[in-house]
Amino acid sequence: MQVVIVPTAEQVGRVAAAKVAKVVRDKADAVLGVATGSSPLAIYAELERRATAGELDFSAVRAFALDEYVGIDYAHEQSYHAVIRREVTERLGLNPALVHVPDGAASDIARACADYERMIREAGGVDIQILGIGANGHIGFNEPTSSFASRTRIKTLAPRTRADNARFFDDDLDQVPTHCLTQGLATILDAHRLVLVATGAGKADAVAAMVEGPLSSMCPGSALQLHPDATVVVDEDAAARLQLADYYRHTYAHLPAWQRYED
Ligand code: F6R
Repeated sequence: MQVVIVPTAEQVGRVAAAKVAKVVRDKADAVLGVATGSSPLAIYAELERRATAGELDFSAVRAFALDEYVGIDYAHEQSYHAVIRREVTERLGLNPALVHVPDGAASDIARACADYERMIREAGGVDIQILGIGANGHIGFNEPTSSFASRTRIKTLAPRTRADNARFFDDDLDQVPTHCLTQGLATILDAHRLVLVATGAGKADAVAAMVEGPLSSMCPGSALQLHPDATVVVDEDAAARLQLADYYRHTYAHLPAWQRYED
């Protein structure tokens, strides 16, 4: 795992976006794995800037979202269908027909999940998966004790996750859905590259457990330790509990120029 520590949240977005940009430059119809939440917004802002400047073209890029709530109308502005359309599809100029989000409104949930896995497979897999991490260590909505072998399925949101996400629902916990569909940990690990971003002191424990803790379903993010091409980009606050922070800084400062993400 490569850990990159930079001073600001904006730089976190820039470094992670550079890794995504390289994939899109090399493959016009790249398959992006996209996340919602606050963390990836700086990545999308930087990718939008590059697209507007004519440096990147997303018109043939395909995308698969990590997750979607169950029991929410897709017209609701906080449904992940709506969030992905607003923050990713429209900002980057993706073709909406090539952007997929799990169908949390499906009448046959098991079939919807199996179909989602099949679509990812038929697309040739995800070339680069963008991830955030929950304060409890979840990635996607794989809450603590999720199996490392899990695939797209329905999950019950942890109380901590619902409380954290109440900020998107007028701080009203009752409005926060109780269930979701999420790609599994094995689905995420199948992506060819992973880039996870985290900022702020509230993520410091989760980041330390993910990067330096034991491989454990109690911290689903620790699954990244199993991936051969995983990059974790954090700001100083989110890095505060990393024991080897100086080593990561040293390593990044001494990377050969061609391996650096900032360009
Ligand atoms: C979002 C997702 C979640 C979030 C995580 C962090 O699609 O799958 O794992 O990445 O909850 O959310 P923020 O970035 O809002 O702190």
